[in-house]
Amino acid sequence: MRINKYLSTAGIASRRKVEEFILKGQVKVNGKVVKDLSCDIKDTDIVYFNNNIVRVSQNFDYYKLHKPKGYVTTSSDDKDRKTVMDLMRGVHSRVFPVGRLDYETEGLLIMTNDGEITNILTKPSSDVEKIYMVHIDSGITKDEIKKLSLGVDIGGYTTKPCRVLPIEVKDDFSKIEITISEGKNRQVRKMMEAVGKNVTLLRRIQIGEIRLGGLSRGEYTKLNQKEINYLKSLKKK
Ligand code: URA
Repeated sequence: MRINKYLSTAGIASRRKVEEFILKGQVKVNGKVVKDLSCDIKDTDIVYFNNNIVRVSQNFDYYKLHKPKGYVTTSSDDKDRKTVMDLMRGVHSRVFPVGRLDYETEGLLIMTNDGEITNILTKPSSDVEKIYMVHIDSGITKDEIKKLSLGVDIGGYTTKPCRVLPIEVKDDFSKIEITISEGKNRQVRKMMEAVGKNVTLLRRIQIGEIRLGGLSRGEYTKLNQKEINYLKSLKKK
């Protein structure tokens, strides 16, 4: 297994982040610093991160968290803002967010140390659907809904067709659900901007078969067995 995949599967961080650690010389294989990202790890190799042995475990932890707005989804922040890690203080294993929600966005975030699941859910070719609830401070026409669902230009990229479901439409407030299977940076906000709408609340309510359910803002809970089985089924695809 490639060294970056090995470290991310072991739950150290995302593949991209572990590549930074490797290039900074924080990773050793059999006692020697390795900066070659193409290094392959064999069963007999011993891998160290910051001089601690890294093992790929099969006993992973899975949580869902309701991220409130005003938190970043990275493990540390150069502007000293609160991170979702601050909300997971009661959890003793090192779990990391699967993918991102922007600072202003709230809702479902899966937290785990299972790097393979993180890789599967965040790779660009992942087709797992994510559902967002969007509040805007105006109405929305059938035409605008059609435009959104066929795909809009969000600055040089046209979004893929998606499902857009109006839940409530009034002149000064509307609530819609958008289901997308891609995850460009701030995608839903940019899509709404493309049709001239002002988002007043954005909440992710579902990832694949995992629902936010009744979790309050800032609250987390372990995934139940059915939810874990669903995530594990993605590994077999
Ligand atoms: N779309 C956004 O605009 N923001 C997110 O955090 C996720 C999807």
